[in-house]
Amino acid sequence: MDNSEKDKNSRRDFLSSTLMGVGLVASYGVATYYATQFVAPENKEKVFRSIYVSPEKNIPVGVSKTITDLKGRKISITNTGSGFTALSTVCTHLGCKVHWEGSKNAFYCPCHEGFFDSDGNVSQGPPPRPLDKYEVELIDGNIFVKIEEV
Ligand code: FES
Repeated sequence: MDNSEKDKNSRRDFLSSTLMGVGLVASYGVATYYATQFVAPENKEKVFRSIYVSPEKNIPVGVSKTITDLKGRKISITNTGSGFTALSTVCTHLGCKVHWEGSKNAFYCPCHEGFFDSDGNVSQGPPPRPLDKYEVELIDGNIFVKIEEV
């Protein structure tokens, strides 16, 4: 092996070592960024959007109306007689769809006979916690539901 070949090899070794080092630093940097985000996520302010439902008069006492937000989440707005509630239609047991049963004044989950009262609290069956609740706004006789943007 003559000197020019040795120089080529040492240059090639140096270049490949340098590129490997840069690659390692870059991949550790990306991994560190994601690990940091996982351990201490940025403290982002929550952003809410109001969704129009209907005029108050269109949902009389004991009646419920289901809407779908832009993310496809179904929300049930119910006139309980003492106000309006906005609840997720996803059962907190195993995620089946609950629906309002006006005659029983309750939300019913047909999967395992779960019942929730008009405020979304568990009244019977296996669901471990209440239905997810949304804030209702009444503006000039119209119903709006405040939904967090995710
Ligand atoms: S999924 Fe609703 S009661 Fe089991």
